[in-house]
Amino acid sequence: MRSIFLYLSQQRSLRRWMEQSPISQKLTRRFVAGETLQNAIAVSRRLDGEKIFATLDHLGENVHSAGEAAISRDSYLAALDQIEASGLKSTVSIKLTQFGLDLSDGECLRNVRALVARAKEMGSRVEIDMESSEYTDRTLAVVRAMHEEFQCIRAVIQAYLFRSEADIQSLNAAGIPVRLCKGAYNEPPAVAIPSKTAVDANYVKLMKLLLDHGTYPAIASHDETILGDARRYIRERAIPAEKFEFQMLYGIRRDLQRDLVRQGYRLRIYVPYGDAWYPYFMRRLAERPANVVFLLKNLVKR
Ligand code: FDA
Repeated sequence: MRSIFLYLSQQRSLRRWMEQSPISQKLTRRFVAGETLQNAIAVSRRLDGEKIFATLDHLGENVHSAGEAAISRDSYLAALDQIEASGLKSTVSIKLTQFGLDLSDGECLRNVRALVARAKEMGSRVEIDMESSEYTDRTLAVVRAMHEEFQCIRAVIQAYLFRSEADIQSLNAAGIPVRLCKGAYNEPPAVAIPSKTAVDANYVKLMKLLLDHGTYPAIASHDETILGDARRYIRERAIPAEKFEFQMLYGIRRDLQRDLVRQGYRLRIYVPYGDAWYPYFMRRLAERPANVVFLLKNLVKR
């Protein structure tokens, strides 16, 4: 089931049809803050009132021209302007394919540099999402270059990749903050751990490496067992709450989100917005096919 949704997430014609469909708002409101930056800022303000930080994701990936990449960059610059004007402690999360990585590394780096420079100037951070494994090396190269120049970057590492332990060790050594997630793409068995139990075990191992040797890591998961392991480890090692943060996705496990905040932990919510929602949305369905039932119920509700 998971791989069917992930396969569908890559189908361009279905994507065009779905994103233009009149039911799109009803479909997406479970996982997406809204179509506009104003919607995303309103959600971030509400979260701020609940002592929760946000990271804004202007939905979109794999642009096909320098013009489209520049539009993505500018939309994120506008997001940083609004974050600053609203006095929020939000960051932004970007995908490098949205900034031109498929066109050329140089084009992508120019666009990312403009954004990171602005984030640095206002005391924010750019979190660089990790896409499928064909992009991992080039993404980490951009992360390193931007960290060296600005020191306000966060990398993302996926626990399902065999290579991730080595990547974390080298990011820890360079003092680069890491968000650890399980991984959301369809990967071949040559590069990714096939069993969910083994991915979960690797997640816990990598999480400990980050908590012990990392720089302000982010534990990004909604997995109750993993969150329990994290809290136990943090207590045993007396790791101060300001040395790391938890991260979760907008609309997922609000009960756990509230628990973490009540217990005094830092939490940041990944807030997606915009009209290019289809691939993001399909990855969320792939993680939990039961969401389809939930969505169908919502569609028939008036
Ligand atoms: P798991 O999938 O095992 O889910 C544990 C529990 O969480 C489920 O039992 C369910 O209760 C709940 N849950 C999880 N997903 C749900 C869903 N879609 N709907 C409803 N409930 C759900 N991936 C990536 O490849 N690159 C990236 O850059 C990022 N970035 C990122 C940022 C943040 C802040 C988060 C939280 C996640 C990502 N991810 C990501 C996605 C990540 O790789 C992974 O696919 C999801 O977080 C789901 O994994 P869990 O750790 O939640 O565990």
